[in-house]
Amino acid sequence: MAVRNRTGFLVCRVLKYNTVKTTIYVSPTRASSWWNYVLMGAPDPILGINDEFKLDTNPNKMNLGAGCYRDNFGRPYVLPSVRKAEDIIRERNLDKEYLSITGLSEFTEASALLAFGDDSEVLKSKKNVTVQGISGTGSLCVGAHLFGRLFPGSKDIWLPNPTWGNHRLIFKYAGLELDQYRYYDPNTRGFDAEGAYEDISHIPKNSIILFHACAHNPTGVDPNPQQWKMISEIVKARNLLPFFDMAYQGFASGDIDKDAAAVRIFAEDGHLLALAQSYSKNMGLYGERVGAFTLICEFEEEAKRVESQLKVIVRAMYTTPPLSGPRIVATILNTPKLKSQWLRELKGMANRIIFMRQQLVKNLEEEGSTRNWQHITDQIGMFCYTGLTTEQVNRIKKEFGIYLTNDGRISVAGITTKNNHYLAHAIHEVTKHDTVPTVSPYTGPKHSDTSKRVHVP
Ligand SMILES: Cc1ncc(COP(=O)(O)O)c(C=O)c1O
Repeated sequence: MAVRNRTGFLVCRVLKYNTVKTTIYVSPTRASSWWNYVLMGAPDPILGINDEFKLDTNPNKMNLGAGCYRDNFGRPYVLPSVRKAEDIIRERNLDKEYLSITGLSEFTEASALLAFGDDSEVLKSKKNVTVQGISGTGSLCVGAHLFGRLFPGSKDIWLPNPTWGNHRLIFKYAGLELDQYRYYDPNTRGFDAEGAYEDISHIPKNSIILFHACAHNPTGVDPNPQQWKMISEIVKARNLLPFFDMAYQGFASGDIDKDAAAVRIFAEDGHLLALAQSYSKNMGLYGERVGAFTLICEFEEEAKRVESQLKVIVRAMYTTPPLSGPRIVATILNTPKLKSQWLRELKGMANRIIFMRQQLVKNLEEEGSTRNWQHITDQIGMFCYTGLTTEQVNRIKKEFGIYLTNDGRISVAGITTKNNHYLAHAIHEVTKHDTVPTVSPYTGPKHSDTSKRVHVP
């Protein structure tokens, strides 16, 4: 006979065992799932776009959602320097043993040099600890868990508003509290310098602050070097720990040194900063998952102690990092001829994106649009915050088969010379009667009002 007990479990054919002191009831069948209560999780706002795109039958459809580089024919692009590195590695006939917990040392050393520069005092004095991470996301996670466990200051991390959606999940799940500071000004469609300075200067001391090192995602808006310098001073005055997310080094301007300027300014100013690097975009190694996490410490011995804790974290999460991707990166960065080739190819990708931006503005003007589209060419990197409203995004999707995120962000890397006109035409069609400038309201706290924390579902 089946009965339901007090906790709601279905108990079938209950068997009773009498032991010396206790009576144990055992059900031979599992009556209900542990996971009955689990609700459907929210679909990823970016990856979900790909599914919608696939279902669309419009022959002119465009996928401008995901941040993956495409060539001028809309095809995924494997860099020739990557192919060459793979050939070199294959010829070496290497084994497939586990890497050490901190990763491939030729890779981590070359990564730190790429970020901080060959003349970096911090690297020369060995104040850094650099471990391999599972691309940018995994490297951010390693840092997030280090802070969640061991950062002695406040467990609040301050994010720019807006920011890459995944930042919230990464830091929340590592046990940090989320706050935000003003970053983007929807009226100028540029960097809100005054708002950022004001908010950062009110962040409680000893907190963590996140910066996008370059090519801010989703806005494509970066502070200039003078503004970074100013931010560095405020961060120092508040004694904040700066955490740089550098997912696009070289992708913004085509110049790896220029794109690392913010990180280097902070390092020179003596900040004990953290850095997450990714090779997804600048080497096109999306699926290889190659990245690195660096923390600058006060001195070498301290770096060694932090490294030992990072090993504990990595060991618990995935034991050791993957092998193939870092071999490719290390081969490119440590072979001067191949590195020069990569730098040319990187510049080629950045230039194609810059050209697509210019063409889009030109085509919008030719369509007869009288709106100011200068932000399209002012913004840099893979993404452009077009300023389209959610309603306009829905229209452009439905009427033209053009897919982008609801906040109006397009991946410029997905535009080609062939479909640029079509995109311009579609944007003009959905914006031509729009007289009100797009404003995405600032939802973050004013100053250090921590009662208005960002809600993460
Ligand atoms: C700002 C930012 N950080 C980190 C990443 C992480 O990318 P990945 O994990 O592929 O290296 C991305 C990717 O889109 C990004 O835009």
